[in-house]
Amino acid sequence: MKIIVVGAGYLGLVTGACLAKKGHQITIVERDQKKIAALQEGRIPFYEPGLNQYVIDGIKKNFITFSQDLAQTLHKQNDEIIFSCVGTPSLPNGDADMTAVWSVMTTIGKHLMHDALVINKSTVPIGTARKTKKLLDDLIAKRTNPISINVASNPEFLREGSAIHDFMESDRVVCGIESEEAREILLKLYRPFVKKEEHILEMNFESAELTKYAANAMLATRISFINELSRLADAAHADIKHIQKGIGLDSRIGPDFLNPGVGYGGSCFPKDIDALVATGTAYKEEMSLVRQVKIINEQQKQSFIDSIFNYYGDDILHKTIGIWGLSFKPNTDDIRCAPSLDLINALIDEDIKIVAYDPAAMMHIKNLYKDKVKFVKHRQDLLPQVDALVIMTEWQEFIDTNPEDFTCIKDRLIFDGRNCFDPIELQMHNLTYFCVGRNVYSPKWHEKSIQKRVEYLEQL
Ligand code: UGA
Repeated sequence: MKIIVVGAGYLGLVTGACLAKKGHQITIVERDQKKIAALQEGRIPFYEPGLNQYVIDGIKKNFITFSQDLAQTLHKQNDEIIFSCVGTPSLPNGDADMTAVWSVMTTIGKHLMHDALVINKSTVPIGTARKTKKLLDDLIAKRTNPISINVASNPEFLREGSAIHDFMESDRVVCGIESEEAREILLKLYRPFVKKEEHILEMNFESAELTKYAANAMLATRISFINELSRLADAAHADIKHIQKGIGLDSRIGPDFLNPGVGYGGSCFPKDIDALVATGTAYKEEMSLVRQVKIINEQQKQSFIDSIFNYYGDDILHKTIGIWGLSFKPNTDDIRCAPSLDLINALIDEDIKIVAYDPAAMMHIKNLYKDKVKFVKHRQDLLPQVDALVIMTEWQEFIDTNPEDFTCIKDRLIFDGRNCFDPIELQMHNLTYFCVGRNVYSPKWHEKSIQKRVEYLEQL
């Protein structure tokens, strides 16, 4: 099929590149000429494993071309599908900024020359597809060349770091559609990307839009649930890993998204949680559980930072803190809402020296904090320079580190926000190791928490 993808951001590029892989003819429309020039040379402006090669292959085979002007492209070409993949960043009040979406839809309404299916893939407020349909119908009614435009809402569920896999082997495709033509086109388009045709789900516009928020809110809820429980596990001298397993093997619960940590981050969960709460407020349906998910996430980030400050007391002012992992999760260079930022801010506020390492995200942190953070090229280089190491992201190269390497850390102290190591093994290397919900093995933790425990047991 001939397809236009508007927006060469994360979503647009993954969508365009994956569709091109299946032999579709893709025109990616992007206003930023510099970005197009870089893409034509195969340079992707962010880190996403595998995407580079997909884009290069698509360009070489002539399945991917670029355009800077949507109106012109609509005049020149006769594409069957137009995907809108433009950004919808959060406004200060939590609502999505829809400027780019409405600009695209207006241009389509004014300049599209033939029948087509307009699909919104960006994360947008509930009601967007219905409003889009009306906007397009109104614009077309004013024109002399009547055409028929179908609209669909087709949210994405891609995870940064595994977006190619998530698109090429989708566990489900959600289609908000209200016409037979849209249905047929979407089935034809997505059949090769799912194991079973039943995994292409049809629903009305609003259900599709709400499914997107519901999926992210559900995942964030699981994370906040296990994070809150990890704090109780520590207080109650239990091991969260055992609890994770104990509940995860229940097929009704499942094991995924139950890893405790330093709180979720990224460009999606925080933004979508805010948007869902705002939508609830607009409909006068209080999203109290979802609201709490965000509060717990903030508490989790703070509680981890507090544990570092509390350990050292005033001595922290003379310490150098090492940070491994700056991106919000492994396999991405994305630092949006990364918990590492909260830690860096807290340390900088107290003028504490920071040395940091990340396999992909150092440049972004450097741009943000300039010389307030010192960087090293290799993860091992950091260890002898710091008094304590804090692990904020579970990159595989961190997990693969030999515990013996940590013995050169001056205070032999590690705060692991992602439970990358076996606490008992690290203790055997004479390291003081604090992690999340597994501090039951730490003698230092026992010292700190013993009073609480005695009080609790006395009440029994
Ligand atoms: C998330 C969703 O997983 C995707 O399905 C969705 O398409 C995407 O948002 C989006 O809306 O565009 P992403 O933000 O890339 O994807 O990252 P996740 O892998 O979901 O991780 C989000 C955060 O949760 C990370 O900070 C991660 O470290 C944290 N997390 C994840 C945990 O703390 N514990 C877990 O068990 C899993």
